[in-house]
Amino acid sequence: MEQKDINAIVALAKRRGFIFPSSEIYGGISNAFDYGPLGVEMKNNIKNEWWKMFVRKRQNIVGLDASIIMNPKVWEASGHVAEFSDPLVEDVKTHKRYRLDHLLEEHDIDITGMGIDEMSAVIEERGIKSPDGNALTNARHFNLLFQTHIGTTEETMSTVYLRPETAQAMFVDFKNIVSSSRVSLPFGVAQIGKAFRNEITPRNFIFRTREFEQMEIEYFVRASEWEEHFEEWLQEMDAWIQRLGLKKTRIHRAEIPEGERAHYSQRTVDIEYDFPFGRKELYGLAYRGDYDLQQHASHSNETLVIVDAQTNEKVVPHTIEPTFGVERTLLAVLVDGYTEEVLENDTRIVLKIAPWLSPYTVAVFPLVANDSQMRQKATTLWGSLSGSYSAFYDQSGAIGKRYRRQDEIGTPLCVTIDGDSLQDDTATLRDRDSMEQVRVQCSDISRCIHDVLQGLSFADIQSRYSV
Ligand code: GAP
Repeated sequence: MEQKDINAIVALAKRRGFIFPSSEIYGGISNAFDYGPLGVEMKNNIKNEWWKMFVRKRQNIVGLDASIIMNPKVWEASGHVAEFSDPLVEDVKTHKRYRLDHLLEEHDIDITGMGIDEMSAVIEERGIKSPDGNALTNARHFNLLFQTHIGTTEETMSTVYLRPETAQAMFVDFKNIVSSSRVSLPFGVAQIGKAFRNEITPRNFIFRTREFEQMEIEYFVRASEWEEHFEEWLQEMDAWIQRLGLKKTRIHRAEIPEGERAHYSQRTVDIEYDFPFGRKELYGLAYRGDYDLQQHASHSNETLVIVDAQTNEKVVPHTIEPTFGVERTLLAVLVDGYTEEVLENDTRIVLKIAPWLSPYTVAVFPLVANDSQMRQKATTLWGSLSGSYSAFYDQSGAIGKRYRRQDEIGTPLCVTIDGDSLQDDTATLRDRDSMEQVRVQCSDISRCIHDVLQGLSFADIQSRYSV
């Protein structure tokens, strides 16, 4: 099917409890979102799987959970206070602010390789106005760091920043990690956590927000080996995308030219996804050289080195940084899975997502709600499954409607307990994507769920467990 308009995804996300506008009863607040009962399950599935793949299953990557508010000198050393900005123009009448590069892109102008001066010149030459039809001010750099203050009195207050990336703590804690953990080159430090940016024009639902979560790795390597590790990480990122099950045709790599890369990067490849609002950055891979460790070493007067076991020399390693946004992952998964199927009498909305991503792996129903024996058996089954899987129990409404509700939220399997179940201890297992059903022993249901999570098709489940 065609990619759906983003509005269909926004509506489903709100209707079914994935994503709500923040503080809605007070009129909301621009560009802030809350992750509801299903959204939080999916975000946790994404973060847990990422941690399992990149930390637990690797011998040479260790984890970190650092403070969001760090010593402000960190951001001076990292270059964010001086360099972390976007080009801003303002409507002279309304004083609304716009991101210059986005404004030009909306006029179908290719800004590849252009700096702020070249972009400003294009505004002049073409006489481009604000979306409200007014003249625009000259462009200026707008720093994206979120400032706040700590301290109890005016005199003792000091300005601090909410971190704009999780990355810096992994450089700042380098010395403690090297001395406390048995790491040797090449090795990585991974972190999942919130980041904050005062984006000029946040937009496109949860794609660009001021508060978001990152999953990042700083991978420390010998300087001479950076290119091979860069290639290796491109493959690793592909493997993650494959695990997510995103359609390959919607994924693209973009080599970012010099001049458009972040101030710390010597090479960047963006992994882009075809969102309904265009092809946009999903993830990024950057070669940060030894920029960050050198900056922190000179600003802190500490020695940030590791002994290279091959040469016995103290070296400042170079860094390869794969970075993944949690919300962009969630959005890509929702967009990719959202399907409207035209059936004989109606249209079915179904979220065709990888089973491990689904908020609930299984839903358990008694066929008839007011049959106490069915209810009892279904509740007991739900209890036995919920220790191992994310399981949902529902007894209200027609069985067809209950199936459809689960289709819409991506539950891969539904189990229905009926009159026969009370006699022979079997149940109906239904597949979300094909809507096919198979009769299985209740004692086999946990194994069926396990096999589906391992990637077995419903046809395999049928031939293995059908009674
Ligand atoms: N440490 C490197 C770094 O922060 P980035 O490209 O600025 O690089 C990394 O951000 C990832 O964080 C992006 O690829 C994207 O997935 C996510 N991201 C960045 N800004 C975001 C925003 N305003 N809202 C949601 N996600 C964002």
